Amino acid sequence: MATRSCSYAFLLLVAFQSAVMKGDTVRPPPQCRPVPASTLEKIEFVLNLIVYRAEIFLRSSVGRGINGISPGLVQGPVPIGATVAELDGEIRDIIEEFGLSGVGHIRAIVNVTEIKAPVARPQLNFSRQLFSDLIDVVLNGSALTPPFDVYGATTNFLFVAADASSLLQQYLLGIIPSVVGDAERRLVAGIALKVAAEFGVIRAQLYGRANSTVSPYKFTVANLTMLISQLVNQLAGCGVKDEGLMVPLQLGAENRTTSNVVPADVYSLASPRYERELLKILFGTGNATRPGGFFPSGFNGTLFRRIQTQGLS
Ligand SMILES: *[C@@H]1O[C@H](CO)[C@@H](O)[C@H](O)[C@H]1NC(C)=O
Ligand SMILES: *[C@@H]1O[C@H](CO)[C@@H](O)[C@H](O)[C@H]1NC(C)=O
Ligand SMILES: *[C@@H]1O[C@H](CO)[C@@H](O)[C@H](O)[C@H]1NC(C)=O
Ligand SMILES: *[C@@H]1O[C@H](CO)[C@@H](O)[C@H](O)[C@H]1NC(C)=O
Ligand SMILES: *[C@@H]1O[C@H](CO)[C@@H](O)[C@H](O)[C@H]1NC(C)=O
Ligand SMILES: *[C@@H]1O[C@H](CO)[C@@H](O)[C@H](O)[C@H]1NC(C)=O
Ligand SMILES: *[C@@H]1O[C@H](CO)[C@@H](O)[C@H](O)[C@H]1NC(C)=O
Ligand SMILES: *[C@@H]1O[C@H](CO)[C@@H](O)[C@H](O)[C@H]1NC(C)=O
Repeated sequence: MATRSCSYAFLLLVAFQSAVMKGDTVRPPPQCRPVPASTLEKIEFVLNLIVYRAEIFLRSSVGRGINGISPGLVQGPVPIGATVAELDGEIRDIIEEFGLSGVGHIRAIVNVTEIKAPVARPQLNFSRQLFSDLIDVVLNGSALTPPFDVYGATTNFLFVAADASSLLQQYLLGIIPSVVGDAERRLVAGIALKVAAEFGVIRAQLYGRANSTVSPYKFTVANLTMLISQLVNQLAGCGVKDEGLMVPLQLGAENRTTSNVVPADVYSLASPRYERELLKILFGTGNATRPGGFFPSGFNGTLFRRIQTQGLS
C-alpha cells in the first residue's frame, strides 16, 4: 500500500513537471502580463471596452448611444465625432444587434457586481479624422486621398468593428482565468463567448470581401486587415496576437491552410491581451500611461489609475 501511494505520488510529480515543461517556459515580460487586480477592478476595466464598442456600434448604426437605448445606464462626457455610417442593410442589422448586446452586458454587470448604474463613461473620440490619421499611420504615413472615411462605406466600418471586438474578446480571455466567484465567472464567460461569436461574424464579413479593393483605393481588404493587425501588434509590443485574413501556410491552422478567418495561435487557441497592451493600442501612443486616440482622457476605474500612479507605461 505504502509503495503504491508512493508511486502515485511519483507519477503525480512527473505529470506536474511535464505540465510545467509543456507550458510556456518563457515567461512573458511584465508589460505582457496581467496587472495584479481584484475581480471588481478587472470588470471595471472591461466596462471601458464594452462602453467604447457599444457606443460606436449604436451611434454608427442607429444614431443613438447607450443612454438612448437604456436611459441612465452610463454617465460621463458625450462621445466626440460619432455619426450614422453608410452601412448596407445586413451589416446595419448586425452592428445594431451587437451594439444592443453591449447594453445587455452592461446591465448584466450592474446586476451581478457591486458596480452601480450609471456606469462611468470615459471620454471617447470617434472623430473621422482620428480614424483616417490611424489608417495613414497603418500605410506608413502616406496620406490617403481622399482621406479614409470610417463612416463612408460598409467595408470601412467593418475594420473598426472587427478591431473593437477583437480587443474586447482578447481582454476578456485575459481575465477569465483569474476571475473569482461563480456568478462573476459565469458573467465574464457569458460576455466573452458572445463577443467572440460576434467577432467571428464580423471577420467572416471581412473575409468574404478579402480580395475586393477598398474603394476608391488600390489596396484590398486583405491588405488593409493585415497592415492594421501589424500596427496593433506593434503598439502592444507583445508579439503576434492579431493577424490578417490570409496568412502563409505555416501560420494557418495545422499548417494546412492560408485562410485565417478567425486568428489564433499555433494550437488554434485565441490569444489573450492584458491591461497594458489594451491601453497602448487604444491610446494609439504605445504607452499605457499616455492617453490619446480613442480615449483622450484615459480609462475610468481604479485599475487604470493604479497603472498611471505606478507608471506602468
Ligand atoms: C440578476 O441577478 C439575479 C440574482 O442576483 C439573477 O437571478 C438574475 O437572473 C440576474 N439577471 C440578469 C439579467 O443578469
Ligand atoms: C470617467 O472619465 C471621464 C474622462 O474620460 C471623466 O470625465 C469622468 O468624470 C470619469 N468618471 C468617473 C466616475 O470617474
Ligand atoms: C479627437 O480626435 C481628433 C483627430 O485626431 C482631434 O483633432 C481632436 O482634438 C480629438 N479630441 C479630443 C477631445 O481629444
Ligand atoms: C511600411 O514599412 C515597413 C518597414 O519599412 C514595411 O515592412 C511595410 O511593408 C511598409 N508597408 C507599406 C504599406 O508600405
Ligand atoms: C482571394 O484570392 C486568393 C488568391 O487568389 C484565393 O485563394 C482566395 O480564395 C480568395 N479569397 C476570397 C474570399 O475570395
Ligand atoms: C494585397 O492583396 C492581394 C490580393 O488579396 C495580394 O495578392 C497581395 O499580395 C497583397 N499585397 C500585400 C502587400 O499584402
Ligand atoms: C507548423 O510549422 C511550425 C514551423 O513553421 C512548427 O513549429 C509547428 O510545429 C507546425 N505545426 C504543425 C501542427 O505541424
Ligand atoms: C509614457 O508616458 C508617460 C506620460 O506621458 C511618460 O512619463 C513616460 O515616460 C512614458 N513612458 C515611455 C516608456 O515612453
